[in-house]
Amino acid sequence: MTAIALTSFVELALRITVTRAQDPRSRAMLVAMQGARPAQAHGPIAARTAPVVDRYLAPALARAGGTAAVAPLIEAIGTLVPQLCWRPRADGPNASEGFSAAHANAMIAGPGGLQDRQDIWIGLSLLAPETRYPDHAHSPEETYLTLSPGEFRVGSVDWFTPGIGGSFYVPPAETHAMKSGDTPLLALWALRA
Ligand SMILES: [Fe+2]
Repeated sequence: MTAIALTSFVELALRITVTRAQDPRSRAMLVAMQGARPAQAHGPIAARTAPVVDRYLAPALARAGGTAAVAPLIEAIGTLVPQLCWRPRADGPNASEGFSAAHANAMIAGPGGLQDRQDIWIGLSLLAPETRYPDHAHSPEETYLTLSPGEFRVGSVDWFTPGIGGSFYVPPAETHAMKSGDTPLLALWALRA
């Protein structure tokens, strides 16, 4: 995808995520991200897939594509798929057994992403069924747009299920996690540094 097309993807992802945002803090951070200066595409980044992606991404996209509110975003993600560079993250507290091979993350905009930039981060997480992502925290605030079934947790509140097209906010440095049930979990995240 060219630099211009990537810029269009970032605009589309932010537009749909702000539409779905439930928390005023999400809306505020996403509007600020929409005002960020467009970034140049990085030099070529080698696309990279993983067995978990080959097996579960297409069904997750097909399922989410049936929800009108996110269908344009799902279609746009579909056009990006051949370029995405999927990587595992480090293990961490409370991750499920075999976590490393049971998930992958793709940075679309952000450090080391297709659009290499520091100010905003936008990417995807994919989890195989019955996988728990480790508890983690980071200084940028974050808004999730959930694109599949799956459970999420922020701080010490109970797990909740936003559903396809759901959204929630993660304050800076707050611990959060996610876990899939009997279907894969797909989520888009947006962070503002
Ligand atoms: Fe996060």
